[in-house]
Amino acid sequence: MSTFFQKQDSNETLSNQRLQLQYLLENNLNQDDGTEIITGLTQESKTIPPRYFYDHQGSQLFEKICELPEYYPTRTEASILKEYGQEIAKITGKVEIVELGSGSSTKTQLLLDAYQDLDYPLYYTPIDVSGGILKESANSLLAKYPTLKITGKVATYEQALTKLSYSALSQRICLFLGSTIGNFSQEECDRFIELITSSLSVGDYFLLGVDLQKPNPILEAAYNDSQGITAAFNLNILQHLNWRFDGNFNPSLFEHQAIYNESDNQIEMYLISQRSQNVKLAALDLIIDFRKGEKILTEISRKFNLQEQSVYLTSKGLKVNATYTDSKQWFGLLLCQKI
Ligand SMILES: C[S@@+](CC[C@H](N)C(=O)[O-])C[C@H]1O[C@@H](n2cnc3c(N)ncnc32)[C@H](O)[C@@H]1O
Repeated sequence: MSTFFQKQDSNETLSNQRLQLQYLLENNLNQDDGTEIITGLTQESKTIPPRYFYDHQGSQLFEKICELPEYYPTRTEASILKEYGQEIAKITGKVEIVELGSGSSTKTQLLLDAYQDLDYPLYYTPIDVSGGILKESANSLLAKYPTLKITGKVATYEQALTKLSYSALSQRICLFLGSTIGNFSQEECDRFIELITSSLSVGDYFLLGVDLQKPNPILEAAYNDSQGITAAFNLNILQHLNWRFDGNFNPSLFEHQAIYNESDNQIEMYLISQRSQNVKLAALDLIIDFRKGEKILTEISRKFNLQEQSVYLTSKGLKVNATYTDSKQWFGLLLCQKI
């Protein structure tokens, strides 16, 4: 494999024979005008969209979270993929694998193994806003799978899905793992699923990972780990805003909090201002005032019921071919097909 990357044009495409990376976001910061940040931090209940967790440092911290003893979702989802990967591959046949929010692509390898074992061609399109981790993981996948071809996109889901190019194989499977869908409100989820159904062709597959409802202490422990990694991940969002928008957030003046909201079946992650303060984001011409104790909501992580989710996806035009879960029923995978 050649490790030589050529900058092909000013449109930020890096390519070699088996790897093409398209930068729709990272090298074009002008595309992020900070509108969502201005809206989120000037409203009564302050919010920051969770995609701002994922600068390079944030992606590294997320990888550490996945290995924490309290953080069961990654291990559990991986165990399901390990058990049912072959079955999923047999159902879909030869497909291009598109992955939204691919991160380190660690769990994806369980599916790549299954497709490889069946002698299927391996075409993979990872999509992620975090360019560093996408490029690192693409290179290690190429070293591990000699026939794999990768066309990665450093982009938001919307940017990438609306620009899905010609597929190397006649069908696709689109993966959305890690229960990242739980970060969307119901309205955002509706819009996202509509984007999925409009981007896929009839017969294409969608594999969705969802974290399931379970007793409160297990959930809260997963987001309040004893080593403080989740707290560091949460606070890093402020450093990301400092870097991206020339800001002066002092993370030591905020504290991490994660609670389970039982009535809405969701973990809510906040940053709490430890004193009255104002913060400047110079690039956005924005000064934000905080009262002592005021919260910023940085993430919701909804917890699902597998049957209800199946009914929901069917109502959106995705036929659910199969559902998979683990022995404790802590995590679920839904294999759907656009009809
Ligand atoms: C919770 S992590 C999940 C990573 C991996 N799929 C897993 O299951 O372990 C979410 C991933 O989605 C990416 N991401 C978050 N918001 C995104 C967006 N709006 N568009 C594209 N990628 C996004 C992040 O950079 C991160 O790698």
